[in-house]
Amino acid sequence: MNLDKLKNDWESLAERDAFGAILTDPSRGDGRWDNSEFMATGEAEIGIVMSHLAGIGCVPNFDCAALDFGCGVGRLTQALGRRFASCVGMDISRRMIEKADSFNQYAHCQYVVHSDVRLPFAEESFSFIYSNIVLQHVPRGFSEPYLRDFVRVLAPGGVLVFGVQDSFAAPDISSQMIRVRHILRIRSRIQDALGLGQRHMQMHCLPERAVRRALGSARVADIQFTNTAAKDFNGKLVYLPQAPTSGYVGKQYCVVKEP
Ligand SMILES: C[S@@+](CC[C@H](N)C(=O)[O-])C[C@H]1O[C@@H](n2cnc3c(N)ncnc32)[C@H](O)[C@@H]1O
Repeated sequence: MNLDKLKNDWESLAERDAFGAILTDPSRGDGRWDNSEFMATGEAEIGIVMSHLAGIGCVPNFDCAALDFGCGVGRLTQALGRRFASCVGMDISRRMIEKADSFNQYAHCQYVVHSDVRLPFAEESFSFIYSNIVLQHVPRGFSEPYLRDFVRVLAPGGVLVFGVQDSFAAPDISSQMIRVRHILRIRSRIQDALGLGQRHMQMHCLPERAVRRALGSARVADIQFTNTAAKDFNGKLVYLPQAPTSGYVGKQYCVVKEP
């Protein structure tokens, strides 16, 4: 797996059904998301995150710039655009960015296609970086360098919030099946053999020790279990009181780069 392959996966997914690839609630697949309902989930999610950040004393500086990494069609970027002085949405998929551009309501919000772990920004460019339901699709050999670069482009005092899948929860059968498929990449191999292209989503875990190592001296201020790793996530972010007992264990990290 390299980033070219990941990019091709997402170009295919974006072409087929971008909304359904982003929020995978099966009842909304095959083009059944309504545009405004879909975008409203982004506003609700960012509202929940900002309330949580206020509760733990990690409010970002809204007078500066925000980055939405893996922005898709801009579901979350637009909500950040309503709050921050400027905002950049970045995605590996050109088709996703074309759609994001078509939904953009703000001159101070820009979208960028980029497919390298070195982000095209100077040190300390952003007061807030957000990334949700993205790194879970990125192989670990790339997600760790991305985390390091998030810290590089985060301003002193800046806040980084991202979700990753930590691990698989034991021990029910569906979790074990996901685990086996994850290890063997059965679907990927079958699709390769049939020449059907890579239209599925790769899923990867990044355990907390690897996250902390990648973040270096940046302070992990908070970790929450969330429902975002669920295979039918519908955009309604929920902080869970404890780790899920089956499927992927999703964690949301709040990281502060001390001044
Ligand atoms: C499930 S969607 C989430 C989109 C958006 N974060 C949201 O919640 O609405 C995952 C997005 O991450 C993008 N992506 C995957 N790997 C990426 C990478 N290495 N760099 C930038 N974007 C990436 C995909 O193209 C896709 O748009």
